[in-house]
Amino acid sequence: MPTSPIVTIDGPSGSGKGTISRAIARHAGWHLLDSGALYRLVALAGARAGLAPDDEAGHARLAATMDAVFGAGPDSAEQVILDGLDVTAGIRSEQAGQGASRVAPWPAVRRALLERQRAFARPPGLVADGRDMGTVVFPHADLKIFLTASPAERALRRYKQLKDKGSDVSLAALSRDIAERDLRDSTRAVAPLKPASDAEVIDSTGLSIEAVVGRVLELGARRSLWA
Ligand code: DC
Repeated sequence: MPTSPIVTIDGPSGSGKGTISRAIARHAGWHLLDSGALYRLVALAGARAGLAPDDEAGHARLAATMDAVFGAGPDSAEQVILDGLDVTAGIRSEQAGQGASRVAPWPAVRRALLERQRAFARPPGLVADGRDMGTVVFPHADLKIFLTASPAERALRRYKQLKDKGSDVSLAALSRDIAERDLRDSTRAVAPLKPASDAEVIDSTGLSIEAVVGRVLELGARRSLWA
């Protein structure tokens, strides 16, 4: 079991997990695990390898063997390299998110990613962002957050995020995608999206990023994770 502290931040698409996790990791000076990026990489690697969409074993093999490197890009922007190719922009598309949500229910893929994810737990500490960080991957985490927001607000946040990146998306299509993804993520048999029994649930509807970060920092300070 890891000895350095771990904070898990789980929640549905568009709940702000990524933004909040980055802010907390920066504040604490800890490592960050964006577990959704790993599922997105598996889907992308599968498409590149020409795997059939229902090839569970093939995708699990890629999950175990793909060479995924997470690092800071030239201007400190987050960079993701898959088998030597820069896929930073490619894995952020809504299509990659949908692909990830399709490979994510497969037990063999989740098993193959388990140790990869646990290897991110290193001193001085880890902030892990995903769907099952507090329930399955790091059940002994020091602080578990379940971040949520109304579906309408999550769709709008996602819309703004994708527009800012120059994607041509419609709010209506995005709302449909988010509802589909929520359903798939929370009803799958293995590691469904749900709060851990000991998670702190934060509903961020109508709250600013600063307010949510402040709440998480307060919860962590109460557990002596930082000053
Ligand atoms: O957080 P995200 O949107 O990048 O995640 C993409 C998909 O990956 C999500 O719809 C479900 C899956 N996922 C998962 O099953 N378990 C995780 N810990 C993280 C993501």
